[in-house]
Amino acid sequence: MDIKRIYIDEAKDHIGEEVELRGWLYNKRSSGKIHFIILRDGSGFMQCVVVKSAVSDEVFELYDELTLESSMIVRGKVREDARAPGGYELDVSTMELVHKAVDYPITKKEHGIGFLLPIRHLWLRSRKQWALMRIRAELESAIEDFFNNRGFVRIDAPILTPASVEGTTTLFETDYFGEKAYLSQSGQLYMEAACIAHGRVYCFGPTFRAEKSKTRRHLMEFWMVEPEIAWAVLDDIMKLAEDFVSYLVERVLERRKEELKYLERDLGPLESVKPPFPRISYTEAVEILKEKGMQFEWGEDFGGDEETVISNSFDRPVIVHRYPARIKAFYMKRDPENQELALGMDMLASEGYGEIIGGGQREEDLSALEKRLQEFNLPRESYEWYLDLRRYGSVPHSGFGLGLERTIAWIAGIPHVREAIPFPRLLEKIYP
Ligand code: 4AD
Ligand code: MG
Repeated sequence: MDIKRIYIDEAKDHIGEEVELRGWLYNKRSSGKIHFIILRDGSGFMQCVVVKSAVSDEVFELYDELTLESSMIVRGKVREDARAPGGYELDVSTMELVHKAVDYPITKKEHGIGFLLPIRHLWLRSRKQWALMRIRAELESAIEDFFNNRGFVRIDAPILTPASVEGTTTLFETDYFGEKAYLSQSGQLYMEAACIAHGRVYCFGPTFRAEKSKTRRHLMEFWMVEPEIAWAVLDDIMKLAEDFVSYLVERVLERRKEELKYLERDLGPLESVKPPFPRISYTEAVEILKEKGMQFEWGEDFGGDEETVISNSFDRPVIVHRYPARIKAFYMKRDPENQELALGMDMLASEGYGEIIGGGQREEDLSALEKRLQEFNLPRESYEWYLDLRRYGSVPHSGFGLGLERTIAWIAGIPHVREAIPFPRLLEKIYP
């Protein structure tokens, strides 16, 4: 008889059938007469039950040979069991060992991060890491769906670039046929060109920052999604950012509940992530810091600690707008009501997570932008093309960037962004 090979996540369609699973041993235990094997196959985890009286002696004794992460093929009948993780079990009829893993380094005890990071290529198999990557993949597809369903056109920004976007201190420099080039810090400037061509656009890809500090929020390589809209003003993108983040959270709650459970995520705070989000000015945020007893001068930039305090003051993400212009990037439009302020906004995720979005309204006036380039000491030749956008049909336009890994860390409830990306690039660490 031909036995159908299925993936664990298809078990619900095969109750009572004899099927074949191919995977790796995740865990095992035995009561003597009954062996319990947790098999993982990439799509999920399933408990396989080996009863002495139901299998050959050879198969029953194979249990002793099985080591963590050995690859194997198991056949048996699918049974529904509400108590089982995932809801189904396999009553094993036969199984074979394909490759025996000897001394797999990750055991069921707790390991430190210093041990796990250099074996990230193996660590990815662990259940929490598996759950995180599935949440990441869900968010990636939710991001595309959100913008594609709203009339945005995806435009890919280059990775090798001639100029900085977010300051010159975090550039990764490389040689481009004798010229200096940099890994992209943000696709924004290119999206500003593209939104004049297409109206509503977004890019989504890796971006790079040589961050000299070691924090739980910084990676050297991270993924950013950046929408940009012609004719939009600050208020329009605050509204968009709020709808966007609410949608992302809703999608994960809807489709990745099992994974959130493996991560022991408290769902309560996520369920309250619904519009409208509170909106406060930078100046109001500074008042909150002072009320909470923090030493802080108006005009300084928020660090991780300040963001945590502000974000902990609300039950959902909060949007902070109108920062002092001197702590923001050169391209930000000034507030017509107060030239000291920039029409920028950040979204700080709740539960102390802090900034996940940065964006705002762009300077659309040619002479104001020329002046900014000078003030920020940026080489005009590299931005001549960008100035063209203010020469030919300039309009108000706005956009933002959402950092994928910080968003994952927040939604999944993990403390550090390094587990939110398959192979993190950290300060002075590029292995594996
Ligand atoms: O606030 P940032 O620097 O804004 C920009 O890059 C704009 N040009 C985006 C735009 O308007 N199109 O970065 C945007 C987001 C941050 O809010 C954060 O979520 C993430 O990118 N981010 C990082 N994530 C991980 N590691 C880092 N080193 C990050 N730097 C920024
Ligand atoms: Mg920022």
